[in-house]
Amino acid sequence: MKSKNCIIIAATLIAIAVAAAEEPTTNLLVIHADKPGAQISRNIYGQFSEHLGRCIYDGIWVGEDSPIPNTRGIRNDVVEALKKIKVPLLRWPGGCFADEYHWMDGVGPRGQRASRINTTWGGVVENNQFGTHEFMDFCNQIGAAPYIGGNVGSGTVEELAEWVEYLTAATNSVMSDLRRKNGRGQPWKVPFLAIGNESWGCGGEMTPEFYADSFRRYNAFVKNYPGNWIYRIASGANEGDYNWTEVLMKNIGGRMNGLSLHYYTLPTGNWSHKGSATHFAEADWFETLRRALRMDELVTNHSAIMDKYDPQKKIGLVVDEWGTWYDVEPGTNPEFLYQQNTLRDALVAGVTLNIFNQHCDRVKIACIAQMVNVLQAMILTDREKMTVTPSYWVFEMYTVHHDATLLPSELQSADYQLGDQKIPAVSASASRDKAGKIHVTLCNLNPNQPAEITCDLRGVEARTISGRILTAPEMNAHNTFERPKDVGPAEFTAFRVTNGGFAATLPPKSVVALELK
Ligand code: AHR
Repeated sequence: MKSKNCIIIAATLIAIAVAAAEEPTTNLLVIHADKPGAQISRNIYGQFSEHLGRCIYDGIWVGEDSPIPNTRGIRNDVVEALKKIKVPLLRWPGGCFADEYHWMDGVGPRGQRASRINTTWGGVVENNQFGTHEFMDFCNQIGAAPYIGGNVGSGTVEELAEWVEYLTAATNSVMSDLRRKNGRGQPWKVPFLAIGNESWGCGGEMTPEFYADSFRRYNAFVKNYPGNWIYRIASGANEGDYNWTEVLMKNIGGRMNGLSLHYYTLPTGNWSHKGSATHFAEADWFETLRRALRMDELVTNHSAIMDKYDPQKKIGLVVDEWGTWYDVEPGTNPEFLYQQNTLRDALVAGVTLNIFNQHCDRVKIACIAQMVNVLQAMILTDREKMTVTPSYWVFEMYTVHHDATLLPSELQSADYQLGDQKIPAVSASASRDKAGKIHVTLCNLNPNQPAEITCDLRGVEARTISGRILTAPEMNAHNTFERPKDVGPAEFTAFRVTNGGFAATLPPKSVVALELK
């Protein structure tokens, strides 16, 4: 009898504990629809594709003779999926690979193209079947603007100048004639060009002073041919290397249009043991999100340095590599950086994109690393099979912010506490689109407690609200080729219109997008 009572008491205590854990946190969001901010460039939602692992080959390019349905060698399933997330721009061919890429290897008849060793990524043979023409075709098929990475580390000024001429010059010249001979009459538009990549590391191990001089030299020979204007992007800092930004702003200044920044989220912060993409505990979930939130500090601090030299914010901060970086999936080539993608990645994407939206006066371009089969990918493929990831769905839900006007907001967020550490439980951003609709994207980082959001919407009255949500029962929920629909968006209805705005209850570990009319 005594033991039966004990069991009842224990069960009651557990029930009370569970109920307590499910109490919603209290959060206040003020949206200033009466004080609109800058435009959120759609280019913040850009992507990155590198000749690395199975990103290009298998992921995008299968060749014209492949049994996998393709258009001129490019996978139809991947193109169809990418069209839905309206990829605004695509960075290529690297990454570190860009500084060992010689573009002439990748033009002309495919049967005659040079094979090289991809010394950066696994020492595999790069047969150059996917080159300039194929990349421009792919951009055209998905509707993305090309963002070309120029080789400064091992290439020459002449080589880069000639690539630009080949791509964009209309008049008769050696390079534009070669392009015509290779099957393309009209020049392409190339709106974005990087002059080097990670020049402090794989791109040449330069000092900031040496790189700044190199930028000036290469840049002087990158020409704007009639009908094409190039936004020139300098190779920027690694994470919190503020001296790099300081020197480049001082020594390059207005010669560049954009300055890049790279930051990756590793759950452990340790490059030797980064952590598993799918097997993790709440401590890893917490730490991953804590590290992802550091993007706000980095953008704020780099922007403050840029403000000193460029108070009018003419030079954009270009976060052209960001995302999660885990240990590769067991059994895959460690140099190929293939990792699964879970609900945790969706939260990382949600909070990071909210940060970029909030900083849209300075952040003009960002590219998640990478598009297919590498790091925090949108799409995973295995021969003829394909699935989209939870991160893909966040990009899809956030398309509403493309080119919309930021509505500045203030958030009093509850804490999400684990042990003696805490981070804000909620992340948010808001914008008004060209049709006048307001979009609010919200993330609840807490995997245990719902988040009650009370929104004070200033300057406008919300009459109707609709919503979508991305969540799942488990923190490590993910899509597989066998179960491609385990994580995907659903209708969200836990909101109500209030006198001053709205109230919503976000379930634990969720990303929510609301539309207010
Ligand atoms: O995205 C993978 C690699 O990470 C890129 O090639 C490089 O620029 C960065 O170090």
